[in-house]
Amino acid sequence: MSLGENLFEPGRIGDLVLPNRLVMAPLGRARSDLATRAPLERVATYYGQRASAGLIVSEATHVSPFSVSRPGGSAIHTQAQIAGWKQVTKTVHRQGGRIFQQLFHLGRKAHVERLPDNRIPIAPSAIAAIGDVPVAGGLAPFPVPRALETGEIQGIIDEFHLAAVNSRAADFDGVEIHAANGYLIDQFLRDRSNRRQDLYGGSIENRARFLLAIVDAAVNVFGASRVGVRISPHFTQDGIDDSNPASLYGYVAQELDRRRIAYLHVIEPDTIAPPERIAPHLRTHYSGALILCGEFTHESGERALTERRADFIAFGRLYIANPDLVARFRLQAPLNAPDPATFYSGGDEGYIDYPSLTPALAEVS
Ligand SMILES: Cc1cc2nc3c(=O)[nH]c(=O)nc-3n(C[C@H](O)[C@H](O)[C@H](O)COP(=O)(O)O)c2cc1C
Repeated sequence: MSLGENLFEPGRIGDLVLPNRLVMAPLGRARSDLATRAPLERVATYYGQRASAGLIVSEATHVSPFSVSRPGGSAIHTQAQIAGWKQVTKTVHRQGGRIFQQLFHLGRKAHVERLPDNRIPIAPSAIAAIGDVPVAGGLAPFPVPRALETGEIQGIIDEFHLAAVNSRAADFDGVEIHAANGYLIDQFLRDRSNRRQDLYGGSIENRARFLLAIVDAAVNVFGASRVGVRISPHFTQDGIDDSNPASLYGYVAQELDRRRIAYLHVIEPDTIAPPERIAPHLRTHYSGALILCGEFTHESGERALTERRADFIAFGRLYIANPDLVARFRLQAPLNAPDPATFYSGGDEGYIDYPSLTPALAEVS
């Protein structure tokens, strides 16, 4: 297939017009201050280098002091964190870019050792994730979490609300609610991790209630046109799963459509065989902008746009290694290869030192 111009056409997300169809996928890189969890100066440099993306979605950012993952993870619940993120948004905006902040809570994927007062991680039900979590001195199995009392759930929704207020104070253009990859919201959505018998468990409507309350809280802060949602219907690592993903995510898509949010961001690796794809089904329930992510290349991304399977394509690992991915695609220039050894290693190496094209070449784009 010859490469068309689709990825380089402007597109609309909410009330924003993006100059192209490339989205930088959310990528946790463990480069925040170890004590304060505020982004360091190099974080502003990193996102600024990638500002030619149509839209940047920030790394997953913890909404609560009781959501703590690996050292260097970032958060947005203190004034120091807001001040750090302000430098990031300022740099991206100065470079002409747009950036949404991804908001999340780990839920059962936290570890007692990392949480303040050695608290037990929380979840919809007391069911441990399958697998290991990094702790001091190595890996430990995920602990059995504590099931939230019904009366505690509003408190977590309030943490997301306050995080959205803080994102706005830090001048983000919007927020993406992280309902993917087995974290707290995903744990509520799916029936293998949610065995509750109250208003937040059982039926699909009940399991989606937590997500939709968080979306409504974010919409109250930013307006619907600046709120996106990320889901991962095929993600079953960590023992998370659902007995009927098409119905579950179909309902979620329909409710998000009613709310007229900015976009739905679906992780559906392009390698998934067409009969097993869920995104085309979601398209029939959701009429807003659809972002697809997962193993896309320039060519397969163009194809998904041409076939109207997506409105935007998010690139993850390619954005780690290619700050000027838009220019490289446009010129069909060679791509830098990402180095997994430096994904979470801290420091500048493998973070802000991936080379851009020489200025002379990039100007042609
Ligand atoms: C180092 C790394 C960090 C990631 N961090 C996040 C994250 O913070 N939030 C999220 O939703 N997904 C995260 N992901 C998943 C990516 O957003 C994306 O879905 C995945 O890399 C597949 O896209 P790709 O094939 O273009 O890389 C991460 C992936 C990688 C490799």
